[in-house]
Amino acid sequence: MADSDRPKAAGSDKTPNHAESGMRCPVELGDVDLFSPGAQEHWYEAYPILHREEPVRRIPGEGFGRGSDGFILTRYEDIARVVKDPVRFRPTVQLAVEAIREAVERAYEKGDEPALPPPVTAMMVSMATLRPDDALYRAHKLELTDPWVGPGATRHSETITRAADELIDAWIGRGRVEFVSEFARPLPQIVLAAVLGFPRADLPKLEAWGVAMVEPFVHGRGHRNLLPAERLEAQAGVLEEFTAYVREQVAAKRQEPADDMISFLTQVHYQALDRKLRDAEIVGIAYAMMLGGLETTQYALEEQAQLFCDDPALFREVREDRTKLRPFLEEAMRVRAPTQGLSTRITTRDESFGDVTVPAGSLLHLRFGAGNVDPEAYECPYEVRLDRKPVGRHLTFSQGPRTCPGAGISRLEQSLAWERLLDRIERLAYAPGNRFQHQPGIMLGTLELHLEFDAAEDSSV
Ligand code: HEM
Repeated sequence: MADSDRPKAAGSDKTPNHAESGMRCPVELGDVDLFSPGAQEHWYEAYPILHREEPVRRIPGEGFGRGSDGFILTRYEDIARVVKDPVRFRPTVQLAVEAIREAVERAYEKGDEPALPPPVTAMMVSMATLRPDDALYRAHKLELTDPWVGPGATRHSETITRAADELIDAWIGRGRVEFVSEFARPLPQIVLAAVLGFPRADLPKLEAWGVAMVEPFVHGRGHRNLLPAERLEAQAGVLEEFTAYVREQVAAKRQEPADDMISFLTQVHYQALDRKLRDAEIVGIAYAMMLGGLETTQYALEEQAQLFCDDPALFREVREDRTKLRPFLEEAMRVRAPTQGLSTRITTRDESFGDVTVPAGSLLHLRFGAGNVDPEAYECPYEVRLDRKPVGRHLTFSQGPRTCPGAGISRLEQSLAWERLLDRIERLAYAPGNRFQHQPGIMLGTLELHLEFDAAEDSSV
């Protein structure tokens, strides 16, 4: 294997914990399986094999409609080409929205709230009315979400820094921390509750709803993250509580708006449609923020801590020269993409990816995690290199018109969190007892991470 193909690099000497997986570590193409239980423990051994031998892999019968196939794309250029062109490669959610749009509009015309069966969520109902096409998708982002979780996220800088410090205060005197439950998980929860304007006391409820929302991405089966009917039903029940909760918040904030995103949504005049937003639409936006904004940033922070433990010299380098923090965070998100892959695009015509023909109507699984370590796109792709140019060119937030709308706030959270961690900690290492077991599903992150550290001499706030 050439150096650039070595999956274990990224400055790491840690052996992946294969004991946690019932699957055999892939050594040849026939062993590669990205989706069965335990596959997470072997993803980064599978990618070099796929890149070398089968960068476009067909999954027979697993397309969007009956009789169609799925295709896994692992090459950087292929994935970038797909996400930049929503006309040739239709987002699946767009097709789902087109299917319900008429029923939703009809219900509103009659003055009813649209009542649609699960798995149609509040989020899809709001997509059907607020952003059913590419032009409105852009307007939705620019007018409604950018001011809060996109470029406008800097307004939350103080909140984020304060939240990071509060969490660190709880364990800085201890020399040890379970980093997932005591930092990486609660930080995005506290921040998002503050952004949306939900009381801090409601965090336990918000956490439970967040868990229900991401359930398909954690416990779903195969590349389409399918949940069995009984789990979907249970999920729908929990999410009804969330809907009722947000509606109450909306009613209160319509009366007495504060400086938060839900209040803003109750007041804003949506220029693109020349009207105010309905309650159900605001619920849908809150749902999308919760679905996209919690665990993803948790995994980013947790994997960054591991990269620092794997390479103490890197930790010292970034600690001493903070201009290197941004390149580090972008490299970390590249080599350890929190959202490893999503099956979210359909081919609208026959397409060629290299020498593979993908027929119209196929479902594409975009393997962002693999595209980010494609040796055709990156020299020594598994290495964290702080001088890689251009910074942040990875696929972790996708690219093109549908790039993650929350990338701004996630990057800000990561950066302010590490500013405070680096200020207050001068040595970071794995504590004994780590199993490095990844959580199931399509996201990359370990369930726990026990760390030990030396607090900086002046580690007070
Ligand atoms: C490291 C953290 C994050 C990662 C890796 C991530 C990744 C992604 C990816 C890959 C997509 C799919 C884009 C596409 O289809 O082309 C996406 C969509 C989305 N993300 Fe994020 N995201 C993160 C953080 C956030 C945050 C903090 C929020 C909100 C506060 C958010 C909200 C969303 C939403 C609402 C969508 C769906 C947009 C649509 O309707 O198509 N994400 N994200």
